[in-house]
Amino acid sequence: MKKTILVTGGLGYIGSHTVVALQEQNVNVIVVDNLSNSIKEVARRITAITGIPVKLHIVDITDALALDAVFQQETIDGVIHFAAHKAVGESVRQPFKYYRNNIDGMITLQQVMQQNNVKTMVFSSSCTVYGDTRRSPIDETHPVTEAISPYGTTKLVCEQILKDLCKHGGFKGVILRYFNPVGAHSSACIGELPLGVPDNLVPYITQTAAGIREKLTVFGNDYDTPDGTNIRDYIHVVDLAKAHVKALDFAFGMQQNCEVFNLGAGKGYSVLDVIKAFEKVSGKELAYVIGARRAGDVEQIWADASKAEQLLNWTCQHDLDEMMETAWKWQMALTGC
Ligand code: NAD
Ligand code: WQD
Repeated sequence: MKKTILVTGGLGYIGSHTVVALQEQNVNVIVVDNLSNSIKEVARRITAITGIPVKLHIVDITDALALDAVFQQETIDGVIHFAAHKAVGESVRQPFKYYRNNIDGMITLQQVMQQNNVKTMVFSSSCTVYGDTRRSPIDETHPVTEAISPYGTTKLVCEQILKDLCKHGGFKGVILRYFNPVGAHSSACIGELPLGVPDNLVPYITQTAAGIREKLTVFGNDYDTPDGTNIRDYIHVVDLAKAHVKALDFAFGMQQNCEVFNLGAGKGYSVLDVIKAFEKVSGKELAYVIGARRAGDVEQIWADASKAEQLLNWTCQHDLDEMMETAWKWQMALTGC
């Protein structure tokens, strides 16, 4: 039977691509978003891609009454929970903003789910929970005790709450630890909308190439890596979105339980590799300088994503060039769709 899934943060970067992937698989989607880091127009753009209207509730998930009203109005089978603040640097400066939104949001959502007897959740976590890793690839058994920022702490706490509810509260949970999501939908209708100066590498690159930023600073080239720059596992957001559809099926098929999956391409690329791929696909020479290391950066980290391959039957289909190509196409098409 056709399932109805509540997607919190469904107008955001990863949420919007996931709503497209769900609608393409004939899943009925209800979106809850408070527009704190997105715009309503994204709903129209999703429909421009799939042809299916987006049922949107502009609600803050920390507002239990408003959230409960959504559950009363709709018949919901399960939840994919994206809604959270996500900027690591901001979380260091404003930790309570992160504890309140991300942890309160998770607790309120789960309480409302329980009241309405909805007990299946797919949760957006992050490779940041692995902290300052010394070896890669990282599999899901790697210790997660050393969060490197208040943002990372919120992900650890939320993971733990979901695990508790799976153990004692009859919940079924899938925790997805994303590595570095980049790129955009091939239509260029949806993509990442960074507010202000981007913290992340790829939006900084595309904004520099578009003339919005003067130049990119590469944060250090004296690391113990082949070219001296940091290594990350970049994953195309469309591959990531499709993994959520598989994770949801997996969650519905589980007994009361909680499973954790890494979602990455399973390959590491350096900052200079990313710049070269961008220059190749865009045909533009990128203005960049080598600067100092950024505090808190992990030297190198990439995923062992074999658990997701085996249990979710999921692998990445898009390579680094496609990530850069779609990120650039999105940057150039920001105003039109
Ligand atoms: P995003 O900011 O683009 O999307 C989050 C959405 O949630 C936004 O539309 C925002 O308006 C909404 N939101 C935030 N707080 C809310 C609240 N209290 N009530 C209702 N809506 C709220 O972020 P994203 O990049 O799409 O990330 C989605 C999830 O994935 C987050 O939980 C993030 O921590 C996690 N994640 C992201 C990355 C990444 O690099 N983008 C990596 C790992 C994990
Ligand atoms: C990638 C690489 C930088 C900007 C962050 C979060 C993590 C997860 C994913 C949410 C690093 C270098 C960057 C720039 C640069 N998000 N860089 N110049 O730090 O791997 O991960 O996003 O859960 O929690 O921490 O991603 O895109 O910021 O950086 O040289 O202007 O690019 O040093 O090596 P990061 P990023």
